Amino acid sequence: MKTFTIALAALTAITSAAPTLETRTPGSVLICTGENYTGECERLQVPFNTCQQLAAPYRNNVGSFRPDVGAYCRITYTAEKCTTHGDAFVEPTPGAPTLHHFDDPATGTNMDAGSNMTSFLCQECTNCT
Ligand SMILES: *[C@@H]1O[C@H](CO)[C@@H](O)[C@H](O)[C@H]1NC(C)=O
Ligand SMILES: *[C@@H]1O[C@H](CO)[C@@H](O)[C@H](O)[C@H]1NC(C)=O
Repeated sequence: MKTFTIALAALTAITSAAPTLETRTPGSVLICTGENYTGECERLQVPFNTCQQLAAPYRNNVGSFRPDVGAYCRITYTAEKCTTHGDAFVEPTPGAPTLHHFDDPATGTNMDAGSNMTSFLCQECTNCT
């Protein structure tokens, strides 16, 4: 497993040097005010393991959110800033394209998480694709 991780890290180093792949960088997330990556969108490059508190226009107004390959993010929508475990994990695939119609893992109900999303924290995950 360790060898595998190192091999993946080496591969990542090589591919991230290729200009054509620069748009999908570990530690970068795509966030949009509209569902299905519409409305106002931004690609944010964020450090791992650090709570990112959203500012306008995204605070309490996220329609879709997706980390790039190489990371997953914990999103928080029941508190002002990142809780220890977050409210839900979001992986690159499928991402969270419809946060206003989101299956809340805590309650099992489909709810509007996007209108209350305040923050997120991403962690490195070499096998998150
Ligand atoms: C986003 O896409 C899904 C799946 O195609 C669709 O059901 C939903 O209505 C779309 N949402 C918006 C706001 O367009
Ligand atoms: C979202 O925020 C509103 C306004 O603060 C609050 O009334 C509502 O209960 C929140 N919903 C969730 C799911 O936390």
